[in-house]
Amino acid sequence: MNPFKDNFTWGAAASSYQIEGAWREDGKGPSIWDMIAHQPGRIYENSNGDVACDHYHRYREDVALMKEIGLQAYRLSVSWPRVIPTGRGPVNEAGLAFYDRLVDELLSHGIEPWVTLYHWDLPYDLFLRGGWLNPDSSEWMAEYTAAVVERLSDRVTRWITINEPQCMIGLGYLKANCTHAPNMEVGMREALLAAHHVLMAHGRSVQAIRAHAKKPPVVGLSLVGCASSPLTESPEDIEAARNATHYVDGTQLWNHTWWGDPVVFGHYPEVGLKSYAKDLPEFKSSDFDTIRQPIDFMGMNVYWGGNTKAGVDGGSEWVPFPKGQPHTHFNWPISPEILYWAPKFYAEHYKLPIVITENGLSSCDSVALDGRVHDAGRIDFLHRYLLALRRAVADGVDVRGYFHWSVMDNFEWAEGYKHRFGLIHVDYETQQRTLKDSAYWYRDLIRSNGACLALPQQP
Ligand code: FCB
Repeated sequence: MNPFKDNFTWGAAASSYQIEGAWREDGKGPSIWDMIAHQPGRIYENSNGDVACDHYHRYREDVALMKEIGLQAYRLSVSWPRVIPTGRGPVNEAGLAFYDRLVDELLSHGIEPWVTLYHWDLPYDLFLRGGWLNPDSSEWMAEYTAAVVERLSDRVTRWITINEPQCMIGLGYLKANCTHAPNMEVGMREALLAAHHVLMAHGRSVQAIRAHAKKPPVVGLSLVGCASSPLTESPEDIEAARNATHYVDGTQLWNHTWWGDPVVFGHYPEVGLKSYAKDLPEFKSSDFDTIRQPIDFMGMNVYWGGNTKAGVDGGSEWVPFPKGQPHTHFNWPISPEILYWAPKFYAEHYKLPIVITENGLSSCDSVALDGRVHDAGRIDFLHRYLLALRRAVADGVDVRGYFHWSVMDNFEWAEGYKHRFGLIHVDYETQQRTLKDSAYWYRDLIRSNGACLALPQQP
């Protein structure tokens, strides 16, 4: 029996800076990504998102291709500096009008827009005011949210406040790993303060969505973590993997509990308070009333996960991947079973419906002599990962949707255009789009609502 219910959502995702281009058209202000991408030496091959996929001008063609794939939903993000050029104050009508047109185009093709309010492109002027280190940042986010929700919520009901705060702060602020905008290179204490402000911004954003929505909204955020699969399915190894998944390593910010626990439970996790003890700023207890707002689902971005077994002392022991483990072009280990374990662990922890808001791989796809893109690796990846997701759904894990990252090849942050994540191939010189073989495979999967996910015959 097919475990995917009829209302399961099959979609794909992208984000504003990664695809839109038009970086200073129609009154758009600069973002921190415009700033960083224009500094020589920051991005692979000194690339930038000035043009990217030129989606700003080609959105009609792109939506038509989404329709051809049969996407039921498209997760887009709104560029804050396109809507409010200096981050605060007057709304740029032309900027908002773009999202109006995009939403209308999607709806007229029967594709539901899932709108992420913040996918990392902070207005440059807010960076000059201290960005996420400024305690007023949650107020800015609330004002910006209100402007977008006022305009789009007569048609949009699915909202994601913030994408991967772990990466925004972990890669954009924390010195140890700084490769992303705004490249602040601060210590852990300041990074934890910025993180706290981001969580406040999430809470204020949820409040603003609920206050301004014209139709009952469905609200979540998108987290990422360091989820782990058990080496074997013994109860001991499963418990070890569960603990590893919820663990907080005091040297970095890749974990889900530091971010998700305050949002859902109204406090930081004990394990994190211990791990970050020497770097903890002071937090007002009333802040947690703001951070903890009712949400309708937990969005999780899941790309890969390590393996863990029970250690001799009863703790969790990381198990290195075997030699020759397949990796993506990004060098991320291909580890499909994580799409079973991660949603299971997250769902039992938060007791909320889970939506996989990103999953996918980068590969070095090219257009073949026959004019097609034969990305057999992506098909195999999708097949394996979705079989694992099917197992989770069949086990009763409440997963409501799956969004492939990405709908089209795009600007991959510090890595520029080195990685191709799309179901649609983009030739950046000509802006020619080509559906990859995986797009047709995904189309058939969507048509069958996942029922065609059988194990292939082996020779
Ligand atoms: C995630 C980001 C997304 C993209 C993928 C590959 O961390 O949310 O924008 O870069 O990774």
